[in-house]
Amino acid sequence: MIKIKDITKGFKTAESRWARFGPYYAMFPVDFAFDVINKYSSEGDYILDPFAGRSTSIYAGGVLGRHSLGIEINPVGWLFGSVKLKPADKEDVINRLFEIYGKRNYYNRAIEKMPEFYRICYCDEVLKFLLNARKNLDWKNNAVDATLMSIILVYLHAKLGEGLSNQMRMTKSMGMNYSVEWWKENGYLKPPEINPAELIHKKIEWRYQKGMPNVTESAVVFGDSTIELQEIANRAINNDIRFKLLFTSPPYCSVTDYHADQWLRLWMLGGKEIPSTIKEKHKGRFSDKDNYFKLLDNVFGNSALMMAEESTIYVRTDKRKYTFDTTLHILTKHFPNHKVAILNKPLKKDTKTQTKLFGDKSMKPGEVDIILTRECQR
Ligand SMILES: C[S@@+](CC[C@H](N)C(=O)[O-])C[C@H]1O[C@@H](n2cnc3c(N)ncnc32)[C@H](O)[C@@H]1O
Repeated sequence: MIKIKDITKGFKTAESRWARFGPYYAMFPVDFAFDVINKYSSEGDYILDPFAGRSTSIYAGGVLGRHSLGIEINPVGWLFGSVKLKPADKEDVINRLFEIYGKRNYYNRAIEKMPEFYRICYCDEVLKFLLNARKNLDWKNNAVDATLMSIILVYLHAKLGEGLSNQMRMTKSMGMNYSVEWWKENGYLKPPEINPAELIHKKIEWRYQKGMPNVTESAVVFGDSTIELQEIANRAINNDIRFKLLFTSPPYCSVTDYHADQWLRLWMLGGKEIPSTIKEKHKGRFSDKDNYFKLLDNVFGNSALMMAEESTIYVRTDKRKYTFDTTLHILTKHFPNHKVAILNKPLKKDTKTQTKLFGDKSMKPGEVDIILTRECQR
C-alpha cells in the first residue's frame, strides 16, 4: 500500500522521484494534485485533464490506481507528462546518450554560425551535443529518444552548476536579448565548461535510482483539446466509460504564454533558433476575450459529454475577474445540476524560485478553486 507522503514529499520512492519531473510554468504542486485525486475519486475511476501541462494530475491519478487521460498542446509539457507516465529502460537511455554524444563533432562548424545567445549560454561541447540530439532524437515516436530528450530538456537551462547552461531560471526561458544583456552586465560572459554526457548520465542515474514509477494505465494526448476531445468523448461513450473526476487548470486569460515561456526548450524540440510570437490558435497568450470564452466553452462542453452523472469537476484558476467569471459561468452552464463551492487561495509572491536569478519580481496571480460536485438521489 503506497503512503501518500512517500509520494508527495522527498525522493525516497520511484513515484516521488518522477512526480516532479519537468519544470513547467504554472504547474500544480504535487501534494495538492494527490490530495484532490484522493478526495474526489476512487481506485479504478477515470480522470480527465484537458489542459494537462506537465501532467501532474494525470501522474497522481495513475500512481493512485486511477485511469487518467490528459491532453496537452505544448510539446514540452506533453513530453514531460508522457515520459513520467512510462519512462524507457534506463540502460537503453544511457546507451543512446553516449551514441548522441559520440557524434557531436559533426557539429564543429555548425556551432560557429549560432547566434551570440547560444554561444554565451553553452560551451562548445554542450552546444555540439545539443545540436546532434536536436537533429537525431525522434522524441515524438520513440520511447528511448523521448526519455533522453525530456531529461535533456529538464537540465537545458538552470541555475549555474545545476544544468547545461550559463546562469538561467529553470521554469521559464528568458528572452534572447534580455539574457545576453543580463549575462554581460552581471559578469557571466563565459559559459561554464561542462561535459554534457557526464552531467546527463548522472541525472539519469539519480532519476532511476529508486526504479520506475508504478502507474495504472494512463496517457496524455499531444494535441488541441478543442479538436481531440470530441472524438475522445465519442469513444468513451461508445465503450460505456464515464469519467468520475475532471481535474484541470486552464490557461488564465491574458496572463501566460506557455510557448514563449518555453522557447528554448521548444528550440531543442526543433523550433526556431530565434523565437518569434506563435500566431497559431491556443499557442499564445490567450488575450482575446471572445476566443478565450470559446476555448473554455468548447473544452468544458465536450468534457461534460463524457462525465458520469455523479462526478466532480475541480478547476483551479485565476482570481482576476474575467477569467474567474467566465470559468464559473461556463462550468455552471455545462454542469447545471452540480453544487458549486469556491475555495479562495491567498495571493502570494513568488519569492523562492524566480526573483533572484533573473530579476523577475512579478506577482503570481492569486488563484481560486472552483469545485462542482453532485450526488444523485437514489
Ligand atoms: C495552467 S497550465 C496547466 C498546468 C498543469 N496543471 C500542471 O500541473 O503542469 C494550462 C495548460 O493548458 C495548455 N493548453 C492551452 N490550450 C490548450 C488546448 N487548446 N488544448 C490542450 N492544451 C491546452 C497550455 O499549454 C498549458 O500547458
